[in-house]
Amino acid sequence: MKPLVVANWKMNTDLSEAIVLATTIKNKLAEMENAPEVVICPPYLWLYPVAEILQKTPTNVKLGAQDVFWEKDGAYTGEISVAMLKKMVDYVIVGHSERRRIFGETVEMIDKKSKAVIYGDLKAILCIGEDKKMSLEDNELGRPTEADIENPMFGNLQKILNNISIEVMDKVIIAYEPVWAIGTGKAATGAYVSAIASAIRKILAKKYGRVVAKETKILYGGSVDSYNAGEFLHQPEIDGILAGNASLKVGEFIKICQIASEK
Ligand code: PGA
Repeated sequence: MKPLVVANWKMNTDLSEAIVLATTIKNKLAEMENAPEVVICPPYLWLYPVAEILQKTPTNVKLGAQDVFWEKDGAYTGEISVAMLKKMVDYVIVGHSERRRIFGETVEMIDKKSKAVIYGDLKAILCIGEDKKMSLEDNELGRPTEADIENPMFGNLQKILNNISIEVMDKVIIAYEPVWAIGTGKAATGAYVSAIASAIRKILAKKYGRVVAKETKILYGGSVDSYNAGEFLHQPEIDGILAGNASLKVGEFIKICQIASEK
């Protein structure tokens, strides 16, 4: 299975930066042997210009949105629907921890968004992760460890999967992103994420069987850079990376893609 590298630009870049970044990523990936699948998720406003860049010549680089609203249309000021995104993007990030933490997205909302994306024929990059911040003491103890894995996020994942049938599971990508690792410079360890990924696969196997459990892509995100990307990508359980900060630095991002190409 080809690894997947997702670039979440969040609320960064102006138009010219977005154009330069997307063009450079596209060109560098075209030259890369065995390039991974790459998805760029710019801010909404830059989706159209970036889509134009990616459509000019055939490319492996796909486009994703950072969020979506579940209704088809109507009086929802400020929101964007799946129908609006559909001709432009292939992927949508759903339930990112910043949406949960800053904008109060609940598991019920994430459930509705996931369904709208998947049944609207787009791929959902479904983010899950423990919302608890690590304390200084945890940190000194080297936590979290595999022993800490009992975690409410698995219950949330099960709730969301309850409404997703096996026929559309090829549209689901799971991104494990613990809040203590996002934007903090303190990435998790490969072994820890690998243990989480196997726990996720057990949940998938129970509901959908072993083939789906094996074929569903599980990504890791949280302070990934070119120094630690290999630690995650070399784990057989981890199928790719969701990068925030590092995806805004073209050299860093290309190095991560290069490491993924060797997986
Ligand atoms: P980070 O963000 O790589 O900057 O930690 C990852 C994410 O939030 O998707």
